[in-house]
Amino acid sequence: MSDNPISQEAADAAVAAALAAFAAAGSVAELKAARTEHAGDASAIARLNALMRAVPKDEKAATGKLMGQARGRIEGACREREAELVEQEAAERLVAETVDVTAAPARRGAGTRHPLAQLQEEAADIFVGMGWEVAEGPEIEHEWFNFDALGFDPDHPARAMQDTFFVHPADRHLILRTHTSPVQIRALLDRELPVYVVAPGRVYRTDELDATHTPVFQQIEGLAIDRGLTMAHLRGTLEHFARQMFGEEAKIRLRPNFFPFTEPSAEMDVWQPNAKGGARWVEWGGCGMVDPRVLLAAGIDPAEHQGFAFGMGIERTLQFRHDLGDMRDMVEGDVRFNRQFGGLV
Ligand code: PHE
Repeated sequence: MSDNPISQEAADAAVAAALAAFAAAGSVAELKAARTEHAGDASAIARLNALMRAVPKDEKAATGKLMGQARGRIEGACREREAELVEQEAAERLVAETVDVTAAPARRGAGTRHPLAQLQEEAADIFVGMGWEVAEGPEIEHEWFNFDALGFDPDHPARAMQDTFFVHPADRHLILRTHTSPVQIRALLDRELPVYVVAPGRVYRTDELDATHTPVFQQIEGLAIDRGLTMAHLRGTLEHFARQMFGEEAKIRLRPNFFPFTEPSAEMDVWQPNAKGGARWVEWGGCGMVDPRVLLAAGIDPAEHQGFAFGMGIERTLQFRHDLGDMRDMVEGDVRFNRQFGGLV
């Protein structure tokens, strides 16, 4: 009996166990574990190899060759299996990561602009479509533009504390504009004639927030100054605007009124055919022929140029266009309100 501690059987057994483990590995990661177990420092083949020192001298060459072949088979089998598994995993990944371009996308709620902002833009666009320009003015306005230049005397009730937010200190005469009409004056001072402008924007009044009032709201102002403009042009313009806003069946009605900056002045009503309680007239805004004193204040000769102006509330427009009961819904920021106007999912 040989005293060689390394037998052919032991080497074959180690190789067979390794090959079986590699074949059973289902992934590169599993193969890595099998390689550590069957070819690593603590593996059967490594432990067998450690016995080389005890192999009798005359058998060293043959046993060394036996061990070399055994280790070679283990390494070779491992590399082959690795190549197979890498390829298999790549193929699986291709399948798994295939993008179905016909699949319905997961829907994400996209934000929209507020219905008031959209309406304001829509209103301005109607006038831009007729060749008018959009004009702007500051929300913190000088009293002169908001009142004096528009013919409000210093003791006019609209200047009293209960309507106007004054900006501290009072001797600077700055206020939060109470209407968009000061933009009329700014437009006339800034531009060459003829002038056709709309001025949408935010205005402020010391009203309590309730179903029909908000202390911050929006108006859209219109001003046209040219040669030979009459009240018929005003009426035609408002009727066109009303039809664009409310549909072909819309009509307007003018009722005599007073504004210090128009003469004659009128309150305009719009016909609301879809109102919940039945069709009715609703008050939409104010309008009139620009008062000659306003033209003079802006350095325009009223004998040469005349024109008209109008202003209406955007909130009111949205309210009766969509028959909304409570104006507070427009300012409270509940997304369910916006959702009614579409665009959000
Ligand atoms: N500025 C007026 C208001 O807020 C409306 C108006 C505008 C009236 C233009 C006449 C002309 O009540």
